Parts: sequence; structure tokens; C-alpha cells
Amino acid sequence: MSEQLEQQVAQLQQQLSAMQSMATLGELTSTATHEFNNVLTTVINYARLGIRNKDESSRDKAFDRILDASQRAAKITATILAQARHRDGELKPTDVRELIADSLVLLEREMRKYRVSIETDLADDTPLAVANANQIQRVLLNLLINARQAMPEGGTVLIQTRADGGELVLSVRDYGSGIAASELPKIFQPFYSTKQGPDESGKGGTGLGLAACKEIIETHRGRIRVESTVGKGTAFIIRLPATDEQTAAA
Ligand SMILES: Nc1ncnc2c1ncn2[C@@H]1O[C@H](COP(=O)(O)OP(=O)(O)O)[C@@H](O)[C@H]1O
Ligand SMILES: [Mg+2]
Repeated sequence: MSEQLEQQVAQLQQQLSAMQSMATLGELTSTATHEFNNVLTTVINYARLGIRNKDESSRDKAFDRILDASQRAAKITATILAQARHRDGELKPTDVRELIADSLVLLEREMRKYRVSIETDLADDTPLAVANANQIQRVLLNLLINARQAMPEGGTVLIQTRADGGELVLSVRDYGSGIAASELPKIFQPFYSTKQGPDESGKGGTGLGLAACKEIIETHRGRIRVESTVGKGTAFIIRLPATDEQTAAA
């Protein structure tokens, strides 16, 4: 290949990688902003209710709801701030179980809306991963949103973590549509999507989600693979290098 062509290919690869990372960041910020707005609406509505109803029990209820909603708002901003903090891409000992909890805060309402319940099975001996918290959180959100979209009638998503031979194993399993064997080799390719476009919550349809997941996991020197049966469901299984340290028992 001529030097010029090589340069062009390198440039295009960089652009693709930037697009992938924008697509995943977009899913995160749109989720967080959306959730934050919902919480604000709750605060405003209960503040109005409290002003309108002078009796003590209505006011107590209003204050309780406002307090709950504000605490949720604080958790959401904490997640966004954490994203800003880990922006440098550095890999360090990271508690994946904490990232799972953060992701669930962000997706709680969305999942309820689509009647998807999330179960977790996080082994006590789950090690810390050598990872960038930001990037792993984006992988998690991507997989969880894909899982939700694979179950239009609702259902269960199971998230598991465990230790295995010096690695952390993380899996996200849904009981949705599944993927045909003939399509499986394509799903990690950029722009491969079977979705018509973003859904009503503005997610999916770019075909960049899994491509970004794969790139992120490979930069971590980890592996991601998929198991799927049409009509039964899909599992994404990720292995990440772990530290020798263990997380504090949850
Ligand atoms: N959990 C899943 N269940 C069924 N199909 C899936 C799942 N995750 C991904 N897919 C398939 O892989 C394709 C690519 O996924 P992704 O890269 O996230 O792009 P997008 O979500 O924008 O379509 C999806 O369009 C879908 O066909
Ligand atoms: Mg997706």
C-alpha cells in the first residue's frame, strides 16, 4: 500500500473509533439527562402539591417524595461526575460491581417503563478489574439497552460477575429475541443494525454499540463473546484482566 493510502486508512480508523465512542457517550448522556429531567418533574410536582395542600399529612408526603427524588438526582449527577473524572482512559483497579450499581440507577426508570426487571448475581469473590471505569460503564449501558430492546414485551435481564483464573467474568443475559447463527458473525461490525433507527427513547439503530464494546474490551486486553439462541435469548460474556486484590464484600 502506498504511504498515502496507509495514512488515509489510519485516519479513517481514527474517525470510526471517535464515532463509536461518541455513539456510546451519547447513550450515556441522553440516559442521564432524561433521568435527571424526570426526577426534576417529580420534585416540581410534589412541591406544587405541598403548596396547594396545607394539611400536615399531604405536606409530609410531598416532602418525602421530594427528598427521595433529590437523593436520586444526586446519584445521577455523581455518575456523570465520575465519567468526567475517568476521562483520561487510564486503566486502574476498578470495582465493576459499583459500575453495575451506577448503571442500574441510570436505567431504573427506563427498565420499569419497558417492563424489564434486572437481576444481579455478583459473586463475593469478584475481583477488581484493571479497567477504565468510564469505558466499562459504557459497555454495560450498551449491553443493557440492547437486552431491553431485544425484549419488546418485557422480561428479565441477568447480570453476573465472578472470578475465573485471574480474570473477571462479567455476563449480561437476556431472554429476548435471540440472534440467528448466520447473523452472529456480523453483530460486532460497525454499522450492522437490524433496528429501524433510534427507538422512542432515542437509543439504538446506529450499529455502533457492539463495535464500540468490542474495541473497548480489546483495548483492555480482555475478550467479549456472544451466545445466542433464536427465541430463547442472548448472553454477552466478557473477560477482563483482574488485580489480585478483592473488592470489599458487598
Ligand atoms: N441482546 C441482543 N439480542 C438480540 N439481538 C441483539 C442483541 N444485542 C445486539 N443485537 C443485534 O446486534 C445488532 C447490533 O447491535 P449494536 O451494535 O448495539 O447496534 P444497534 O443497537 O444500534 O442496532 C442489533 O441491531 C441487533 O440486531
Ligand atoms: Mg445497541
